[in-house]
Amino acid sequence: MRRMKTKVSVIGSGNVGATAAQLIYQSGIADVVLFDIVEGVPQGKALDLAEAGPLWNISSSIRGTNDLADTAGSDIIVVTAGLPRKPGMSRDDLLYANANVMRSVVSGTAPLSPDGIYIVVTNPMDVMTQISWKISGFRPQRVIGMGGVLDASRFRTFIAFELGVAPADVETLVLGGHGDLMVPLPQYTTVKGIPLPELLSAQRIAELIDRTKNGGAEIVSLLKTGSAYYAPAASVFQMVKSVLSDERRILPCAAYLDGEYGVHDLFVGVPVVLGRNGVEKIIELALTDEDKRLFSKSAVAVKGLVETALAPRK
Ligand code: APR
Repeated sequence: MRRMKTKVSVIGSGNVGATAAQLIYQSGIADVVLFDIVEGVPQGKALDLAEAGPLWNISSSIRGTNDLADTAGSDIIVVTAGLPRKPGMSRDDLLYANANVMRSVVSGTAPLSPDGIYIVVTNPMDVMTQISWKISGFRPQRVIGMGGVLDASRFRTFIAFELGVAPADVETLVLGGHGDLMVPLPQYTTVKGIPLPELLSAQRIAELIDRTKNGGAEIVSLLKTGSAYYAPAASVFQMVKSVLSDERRILPCAAYLDGEYGVHDLFVGVPVVLGRNGVEKIIELALTDEDKRLFSKSAVAVKGLVETALAPRK
């Protein structure tokens, strides 16, 4: 029997969604459906990308839509839909607004793609991942948040800048929520196998960690009217590829913890093996007491936001 084509739906055709759709389509790894609530935008961006297809030698397809029914039978659903923070809007306002977007997107897509895997990008990402899992009713291994791959890529970039080496030769892991309280791990950072602490002073490493923690804000302060999307989209693509090609890459992602790292019933960033079934394995690292404390602080902050988002609004 002819195998059906692999399908990835990208929900939200803004900067991150459209760029992720481009990377997926350009790689030829899957047919792509690009969805948005705004009429015309997903259709226009998808048509523009389709018209690049012949130049990229592509044999897969891409289409834009305002109808969630077109996402049926997806292998992966990437959720980038959300509202940006507007002036006068508190973080909590944004939390509630995006939680509502998740509710509508996930309740509308999960029944149509019962064997799908969610990759959640919308911020606050760890919280939105937990909500997506609750609404979908999927096994937690099939709901994954994108944050750590991006944070790790930023840290790798700054180390490569500092040492004047190829970014690809820098490897690292980052733990915790995708926010100010993330926990980059210098002792699990190597440059072609050489431990980072042998190459840079503790003070310089601390400065690069600080820059990593503020990596998103640094881009916002430069762009002024938007936030990062090339590196977030590339992070999504690496996760999509690891799942669809069953690469089993070890990537830091928001995954459901049920006792691992002493955390229960919470999605937060940890290293996982990412394969065709989603999270194939959670890797538990030996941590210093200080990193355990920082990770726990980050997890507590995420849990607080989850509770706020799920509580009825007064
Ligand atoms: N269903 C589908 N799409 C929606 C919905 C909805 N209910 N609500 C909003 N959208 C769409 C918007 O119309 C917009 O096209 O989501 C898109 C978001 O795109 P951008 O505003 O360009 O945001 P982007 O930079 O792509 O970031 C998306 O990822 O990194 C995170 O913090 C970022 O939460 C944000 C998300």
